[in-house]
Amino acid sequence: MSIRQAILISGSRNPHGQTARAAEAFLDGLKTAGVGCESFFLPSMMIERCRQCDEKGWGQCHAEDRCSIRDDFAGLVAKIKACDLVVFANPVYFGDLSESMRAFLDRLRRTCRQEKGRAGIATKHAVGICVAGGGGGGAPACMVSMERFLATCGFDVLDLIPVRRQNLDLKVELLRATGRWIATHPPVV
Ligand SMILES: Cc1cc2nc3c(=O)[nH]c(=O)nc-3n(C[C@H](O)[C@H](O)[C@H](O)COP(=O)(O)O)c2cc1C
Repeated sequence: MSIRQAILISGSRNPHGQTARAAEAFLDGLKTAGVGCESFFLPSMMIERCRQCDEKGWGQCHAEDRCSIRDDFAGLVAKIKACDLVVFANPVYFGDLSESMRAFLDRLRRTCRQEKGRAGIATKHAVGICVAGGGGGGAPACMVSMERFLATCGFDVLDLIPVRRQNLDLKVELLRATGRWIATHPPVV
């Protein structure tokens, strides 16, 4: 299946920071191959953390494969379902996912446990980019965390690309090439 539309979901609040630079390079690669791209920055969206609604820790996510919180979550899930590729870009915090990315993926995986909730997400192509922009440590561990979330949701993870501040210039070139390559070599599911 060819990739025509991609969305970026970023856990960084800075549209001009290091995570943005890495993600933009990947999107540039997609765009040169004609892929349409739309970007979402989680920290500037209204996405609450999970409320663990009932006394057992579940809620409508368990019974109905959807989240009862009325915020930007459902709209973003609809965007995921409508596109061909989701690019998750995350600034590494404490060698792990940012709080905004974790809040979103925590809720997403709860709604993806059964077939109904997974429809439109299972086998959806995804790419993960984690940028350790401080000391430069923790990107691989962060990638492992992201991989676990994406696999639980059922995404078809095409690539996971760790980046550190010290190799950002190199990785920007790699990300651009990878974006173009993925767009021009449609993955076979
Ligand atoms: C709470 C917090 C924890 C961080 N932990 C790490 C870390 O473990 N490793 C690292 O290299 N950078 C760390 N950083 C730096 C971020 O990865 C990131 O590069 C920086 O916040 C700039 O964000 P940007 O990529 O959105 O520009 C941390 C930053 C914050 C705010």
